[in-house]
Amino acid sequence: MRNTVFIKIFLWFWLCIITIIGAVAVIVVMHLGGLHGSEWRRLAEKSLSLHGATAVKIYEQNGKDALIEFARPWEDKAPDTVLLFQGVTELTGRRVPQQVTKLVDKASRIERTDTLTLGEVTFIARRIVGQNNTPYIFVVETNRKGYFKQLSELPRFIVVKVISVFIFSVLFCFALSYSFTSSIRKLRSATHRLANGDLSSRVLPTLGKRNDELSDLAMDFDQMAERIDELVTSQKKLLADISHELRSPLARLSIALDLCHDKTGEPLQKQLSRIERECHRLNELIGQLLDLSRFESRITEMQPVPVDLTSLVNLLVEDADFEARSRGCHVRMVASEPCSVSGIPDHLRSAIENVIRNALRFTHEGTDVEVSITCLPPESKAILQVRDHGDGVSEADLFKIFKPFYRVEDSRDRRNGGTGLGLAITERIINLHGGSVRAYNAVNGNGGLIVEITIPCDVI
Ligand SMILES: Nc1ncnc2c1ncn2[C@@H]1O[C@H](COP(=O)(O)OP(=O)(O)OP(=O)(O)O)[C@@H](O)[C@H]1O
Ligand SMILES: [Mg+2]
Repeated sequence: MRNTVFIKIFLWFWLCIITIIGAVAVIVVMHLGGLHGSEWRRLAEKSLSLHGATAVKIYEQNGKDALIEFARPWEDKAPDTVLLFQGVTELTGRRVPQQVTKLVDKASRIERTDTLTLGEVTFIARRIVGQNNTPYIFVVETNRKGYFKQLSELPRFIVVKVISVFIFSVLFCFALSYSFTSSIRKLRSATHRLANGDLSSRVLPTLGKRNDELSDLAMDFDQMAERIDELVTSQKKLLADISHELRSPLARLSIALDLCHDKTGEPLQKQLSRIERECHRLNELIGQLLDLSRFESRITEMQPVPVDLTSLVNLLVEDADFEARSRGCHVRMVASEPCSVSGIPDHLRSAIENVIRNALRFTHEGTDVEVSITCLPPESKAILQVRDHGDGVSEADLFKIFKPFYRVEDSRDRRNGGTGLGLAITERIINLHGGSVRAYNAVNGNGGLIVEITIPCDVI
């Protein structure tokens, strides 16, 4: 089990409560009960002297048998037994260990009570003076095992009370710890949502009327989230505005370029074509940026319609296969189950096309790109996998390739390298359709990258 704050708080509270209850009980018994340790001792000594005197009297008046008789009720009732010595001789005829004889010898020379513990048995000895000043030593033998037995024989109502206090303390500590940690849990879930991209995540409204350090923390968190939200939104807006503003001069540049083509002679045609290509690339880049900002802000004016995912992928595979032949490669369907998704066909097409085109670009010459669609009816999920036979992507880059403009170092140098926006757009489109994308390296069959798109579907 994880060592959570909740468990720590719970255990500490509980320990404190149990300690306090125990301490209070001891104090109450000692002080309100009216007897302190010394008083108990005095009473015990007095009782020992009285019993001792009785035992001596019985022995002196009625002899050994009466003494044995006197000792019997003690044995029946409790773990205690009594012994009476004259010198070091036990008068009821019991044999005793050597150490007890020593204790008796010592007790005969002092005025107070002396004790000896042997394992679980304790002997308490006291000198008693009989008729004609005859000295005796009275010994009580107590067995601690018996006290545990006595404990188990405690009245039922005391046991019930102790168990009730125990249960109450558990419930009380649980409620207290739960209320302390509930704000932390709310804060944690809000942080989690923020980390997952939900910039509208706030904590303070969920805390109710709190006014303590935790509500201060929640306020700080909300301010931080507000600030991040503002920054990210303004940055996205700036990007969208710039892209939008660049479109018009670029369109005018293209028109001017066409006019130049018509009016300029052969020598400049090569340079003009180059400028035209760059204009075209710039236009594509701006288009991708606009797409990205649109999908990020989840704005799409189109309504979802049922899309036959299998046919759409088949068409994309056919087109890609046609292109692939120039490099001696093939793009082929290795598994295809019919399934339909609810979505926007153009968006889905561009999302999947980017993944297939990437695979085609990175697969080694003469190898195949394998595409498969499988449906998982119980979960209503379509799984589209695109696998190439290229170098794959290092583990550290597997998540990063979905970030805008991120390209693995060596693919930046390729002449036909893209802008690094394709997978970012793919991920946003698939997210908009309620699905997810991930990439991982193939472990068998010469490696390569597998990009897997999971999307909710209806089986046809
Ligand atoms: N199949 C693959 N094999 C190896 N690396 C890949 C693969 N697919 C993507 N990558 C890496 O991920 C990076 C990002 O891919 P992404 O599709 O986002 O951008 P791009 O293809 O470079 O450009 P764009 O798609 O915008 O034209 C690529 O530049 C490449 O480094
Ligand atoms: Mg790409």
